Amino acid sequence: MPRLPNTDCRVHVLAPFGKDAILVSEVLEHSGIPVEVVETAADIARCVNSGAGAAVVAEEALSEEIIELLGSSVAAQPAWSDFPIIVLTSGGASTPSTEMMVRSRAPMGNITLIERPVRPATLISSVLTAVRSRLRQFEIRDHLEERKHAEEELRRAHDELESLVEKRTLALRRLSARLMRVQDEERRRIARDLHDGLGQWLAAAQINVDVALSRTSGSVTPILQETRGIIDHAVSSIRTMSYLLHPPLLDEAGFDSAARWFVEGFAKRSGIPIKTDFSHFDSGTDGKSKTARMPDGVELALFRALQEALTNVHRHSASPQAEVRFTRFPDRAVLEIQDFGRGLPQEVLDRFEHTGTGSGVGLAGIRERMKELAGDFTVLSDSKGTTLRAMVPLPAEASKPPALEVIARNGSQAQRSPERQQAPMVTKAAGD
Ligand SMILES: Nc1ncnc2c1ncn2[C@@H]1O[C@H](COP(=O)(O)OP(=O)(O)OP(=O)(O)O)[C@@H](O)[C@H]1O
Ligand SMILES: [Mg+2]
Repeated sequence: MPRLPNTDCRVHVLAPFGKDAILVSEVLEHSGIPVEVVETAADIARCVNSGAGAAVVAEEALSEEIIELLGSSVAAQPAWSDFPIIVLTSGGASTPSTEMMVRSRAPMGNITLIERPVRPATLISSVLTAVRSRLRQFEIRDHLEERKHAEEELRRAHDELESLVEKRTLALRRLSARLMRVQDEERRRIARDLHDGLGQWLAAAQINVDVALSRTSGSVTPILQETRGIIDHAVSSIRTMSYLLHPPLLDEAGFDSAARWFVEGFAKRSGIPIKTDFSHFDSGTDGKSKTARMPDGVELALFRALQEALTNVHRHSASPQAEVRFTRFPDRAVLEIQDFGRGLPQEVLDRFEHTGTGSGVGLAGIRERMKELAGDFTVLSDSKGTTLRAMVPLPAEASKPPALEVIARNGSQAQRSPERQQAPMVTKAAGD
């Protein structure tokens, strides 16, 4: 006889009067069916929800009260369970108990009636059928449990994976934020070296050529003049390079001035006319001045976004013109760069929307910078053009004295106030 783990599939026999219990158990045991003779109906009611294979109950043991007890046990079975009960009835006319059993068959569940005197073959066959059906129920139970277990495992694995992805994403975001900071520092250093190092050497060369020009005449003069022109050209190239790497205006006068300067120069270099609209809205209640500077990190991030966006307009859009709009609200700054070109290729747009990466590092870089500042970056693009929108929240402390108040004591160049606030380092990806 087939066995399942976690179940003994014993047949419980309740026949408290006469010798039925002994006879039934002898017949069944002889056929290799494990049997347990029980004393009360409560024992049978209990075995409905244990590992029992079936119950054989003598009709005379079933009072109305006991049928009710059994009925409630049967009703409490889980969905997979349909405990088989075999009732041994008396021969001839049916008794009130049998009538009741039959009438209440539905609530009692899986009941088989066998008339006494019982032939051993009939009993064995009925019990085996009942036990087999019970074994199939146990199989379903085990299958359901396995499935539940597998689902729990899957859910746990999924949760673990999600938290791992979250951790890795956070680590990557921190890394990329750090890389961008290092890159900004590097650009600032190279800009300074170009201006203060190479620029100074060239300035000295200019002076020497001027001196030589004042002291010579004849055929050497045109060569010296040409050399002077070449040096002038180099000086101007170095200045442009240096300013583009890190415009001193950004530190000295803030985003507005640096952005206007950059847009103007860009329009000249690229030949793309650019319309600008820079507006400020004072809160009017907290006394914030529109000339108050934004935090360093915010100004630099917005400036890099502007640079990248306009470079993209020039490189990719084929737009005849562009627009730059900058709006400063008391609690946020919004920068929009719009072109009227061919738009981003659909696959680049899809990739950017789903993974946050384009085909290069430009757009992804803006997005990371904005996230780093708890801001938001959106790209709207179709065949009529592209609009990039970068939004950065401004912390209450952003309201700092205007740059003019911190003009350096010795010199005309404005310097940063040492207590200028850095933008908050927020690693949470906002707008995701
Ligand atoms: N204004 C635009 N108009 C049309 N296509 C654009 C525009 N801006 C970006 N794209 C498209 O989106 C892609 C991704 O831009 P992204 O700035 O991220 O990278 P890139 O400019 O190719 O390289 P880089 O890393 O130097 O910035 C571009 O290769 C281009 O196909
Ligand atoms: Mg780019």
